[in-house]
Amino acid sequence: MQDLQIQIKVTQIRNDFMEEMKNDTPPVQTKNDCLLLDIEIIDDQHRKIFKILDRLVVLRDNKDNTSNLLKVIEDLVDYSCIHFQTEEELMREANSPNIKEHIVQHHFFIDKINEYRIAYNYKNKVLANQMVIFVRKWILSHIIEVDGKYVDSIQKYLNEVGLESKSK
Ligand SMILES: [Fe+2]
Repeated sequence: MQDLQIQIKVTQIRNDFMEEMKNDTPPVQTKNDCLLLDIEIIDDQHRKIFKILDRLVVLRDNKDNTSNLLKVIEDLVDYSCIHFQTEEELMREANSPNIKEHIVQHHFFIDKINEYRIAYNYKNKVLANQMVIFVRKWILSHIIEVDGKYVDSIQKYLNEVGLESKSK
């Protein structure tokens, strides 16, 4: 259950983000290795999320609004929750900066995908396209602007505890 403070921040971020999306929806490659953070476990998980996004793009291109779309939505929620949990645990262990603000961003993403799940139940035909635009834009900006802020602290922490941080 989200506390009120987190919910208020999620609402603010949602309003800003959705406003920004109206003006700017550039095409972006989903497979982009310059997004590597050099933290192996995180980079592997990001790749898996991009693979789910690729499946969503295929459904969108094929105008497939069947249960295949629901499966992708569910996989996206399930896997994002696993990934966010990994990140949040690592950030706490590493004493990374801005953890609360970062967690708010994760809540916003999960809430938004859950809204798409509800929209699917109401047979919204443009759902896949809206989702591709949102997920692509959110993930790219999140990795670059938000995840990028924990890199130094987590790499330092992993080195201190004797774990390899670098992606191969
Ligand atoms: Fe994150």
